[in-house]
Amino acid sequence: MKGIILAGGTGSRLWPLTKALSKQLMPIYDKPMIYYPLATLMMSGIREILIITTPEDLPLFKKLLSNGNQLGCRFEYAIQSEPKGLAEAFIIGKKFIGNSRVALILGDNIFYGNGLEQLLKENYKPKGGIIYGYHVNNPKRYGVVEFDETGKAISIVEKPEMPKSNFAIPGIYFYDNEVVSIAESIKPSKRNELEITDVNKAYLELGKLQVSVLDKGIAWLDTGTFSSLMQASQFVQVIEERQGLKIGCIEEVAFTQGYIDTEQLKALAEPLLKSGYGEYLMNLIK
Ligand code: DAU
Repeated sequence: MKGIILAGGTGSRLWPLTKALSKQLMPIYDKPMIYYPLATLMMSGIREILIITTPEDLPLFKKLLSNGNQLGCRFEYAIQSEPKGLAEAFIIGKKFIGNSRVALILGDNIFYGNGLEQLLKENYKPKGGIIYGYHVNNPKRYGVVEFDETGKAISIVEKPEMPKSNFAIPGIYFYDNEVVSIAESIKPSKRNELEITDVNKAYLELGKLQVSVLDKGIAWLDTGTFSSLMQASQFVQVIEERQGLKIGCIEEVAFTQGYIDTEQLKALAEPLLKSGYGEYLMNLIK
């Protein structure tokens, strides 16, 4: 299973904040936003990851994350020159994906909660596609999934005017290798994007889409507005200060998953000692 983080787009919904800097590099409390989806993929057991971003932002992501060796992973980078839709990730990433299965996570989606790691690891070998439904107050802004009385997904609609359920589809998706040819076969939507919803619909029509409801105990945080961006930071701060444990800490995930050893973790911690982040990593060793 390989992974893709989609971290492009114009970020225009957060201008002027994101005019000169990628949205996915904005701080969420004590880390850049991309740490959170990256930690989620790494937690799922995925170590080969393609980061897709804009030509302007690519050098910044490389500076931040380099080739992934330091985390016992392998990172590749690719450019999406214009935001032509989430499903374009599979076309841009075709060579990277090769014959593998692939997980896509949006660079601005933050997941946190008990049981998340277990849940994600169960998706390591999808036959078809695996997506989630998450109960939200206002589903209109998202892809929305409708279930029948047996809990089977029966329809998926992107940003419906009249949502048929309160279950939004979060930005994490697991697919078998067929996703590449499906992405190549779909046509741009009215907003001129290759929609991930159309990929999911294609799997649904083939009878190969599994939709599970994300447990209430799992938080899926939005970062789409000034206010939700701030709330995400506050959420992370409250949990981290209360528990003394970090969320989205890629170095910790690399260590606890056994991707790096004590010496490697020490080497990552040392340059970060001044901020206190490094001390947290050192304490993991103790
Ligand atoms: O957050 C989950 C939702 O994400 C899903 O429920 C929807 O089905 C899905 O279409 C998507 O909806 P949005 O309209 O909210 O996606 P947005 O255009 O905001 O893009 C999500 C992230 O992906 C954002 O960080 C920018 C990045 N992106 C987006 C597009 C369209 C790219 O990197 N390239 C793109 O072409």
